[in-house]
Amino acid sequence: MLNFTYYNPTTVYFGEGQIRALLKEIKKYGNKVLLVYGGGSIKKNGIYDEVAKIFKVNNIKFWELSGVQPNPRIQSVRDGVKICKENNIEVILAVGAGSVLDCSKVIAAGYYYEGDAWDLVIRKARVTNTLPLGTIITLAATGSEVDAGAVITNPDTNDKLALAHPAMTPKFSILDPTFTFTVPRNQTAAGTADIMSHIMETYFSSPRQASIQNRISEALLKTCIKYAPIALEEPENYEARANLMWASSNAMNGNIGAGKERKWVVHPMEHELSAYYDITHGVGLAILTPYWMEYSLNDETIDYFVEYGVNVWDLESSENKYEIAKKSIELTKDFFVSMGIPTKLSEVGIEKEKFQAMAKGAVRYGNIGSIKPLTEQDVLNIFNMAF
Ligand code: NZQ
Ligand code: ZN
Repeated sequence: MLNFTYYNPTTVYFGEGQIRALLKEIKKYGNKVLLVYGGGSIKKNGIYDEVAKIFKVNNIKFWELSGVQPNPRIQSVRDGVKICKENNIEVILAVGAGSVLDCSKVIAAGYYYEGDAWDLVIRKARVTNTLPLGTIITLAATGSEVDAGAVITNPDTNDKLALAHPAMTPKFSILDPTFTFTVPRNQTAAGTADIMSHIMETYFSSPRQASIQNRISEALLKTCIKYAPIALEEPENYEARANLMWASSNAMNGNIGAGKERKWVVHPMEHELSAYYDITHGVGLAILTPYWMEYSLNDETIDYFVEYGVNVWDLESSENKYEIAKKSIELTKDFFVSMGIPTKLSEVGIEKEKFQAMAKGAVRYGNIGSIKPLTEQDVLNIFNMAF
């Protein structure tokens, strides 16, 4: 196990009715709030009304930034920063899925930066301070409710880039599984693929001998495999939604990545796909993952796949190692297909002509991946396999 520092400052309120903690938490930071949300799902399912009522009854003043899109745009961040600066906002409340949370994190950081917030995303300027942020997450997927990261898109430059700073980590997050009852099938499937990918990014990382992290990862993966099909069939099944929601947070709260290399590989490839084609993040991950696995399987990496096949997919450990590895990759693909996710990039409108540019973008900060580091050419090869 590698050395690590573990610190996660987010207070999590988990379970039905935990929105009752909202007022007490907000009041710790002030009474001028920017409420950030997406395209309207929180208005349809009543969460907006619940929040607005709590604020109105308790004389909390709030301003709104709505319309944050999936693959959140830098323009929404700019709009949010403007509202915060003009109105001396004291605390931000993000209510929605990962895109809303990510946008809010960069608004929180942009408030303390004089220039354009995009500078923070492209690492031209550093995050120095942030407004306090609270979240009410409505989709189990990104883990953004408990982590320091945000991913922002600039459609003018086809860039979709991640930034992270400890100060961007939410101060508190309310995780009520009933708030995910209205998540549609395709987003439930994509969200599950995203959770699983977050787990695999560290599971398939050196060193393999981080037993605690690996066993927890396997339990989280098995939880997704068990409960996603139930949530797809019964969207209001509390146990299924609760397990997916907590799996999502556990994948990203820093626990399973501690003591392992944090050199993600499928995510940087996928971010290029959604930067250029605005596809759903989890769908891109689910398409690429089995091809990346096939490409990464060799004599040096085989034991990772055997452990995965035996402990996650219950394959017989007595079988030939390569048989186990190949079956585990096949089962992974079959699982994504069973949730209705396509298996080819061409099926989601992606064309070969952008492959070179996307491969270059994926390795912009250097080779990606831990157990088999990938070059630009490797990424290109995987895109071609997945086409
Ligand atoms: O916009 P609204 O109307 O709210 O609808 C959303 C949106 O259309 C809908 N939705 C969310 N909760 C719902 C609901 N519909 C009905 N009922 C509910 N309860 O779902 C759609 C997708 O929203 P989005 O925010 O895009 O989903 P997700 O949470 O998957 O976030 C994806 C974004 O997060 C980034 C991704 O790259 C992508 O940009 N990521 C962020 C990470 C992080 N901060 O740590 C890590 C991830 O790996 C990921 O890269
Ligand atoms: Zn992800």
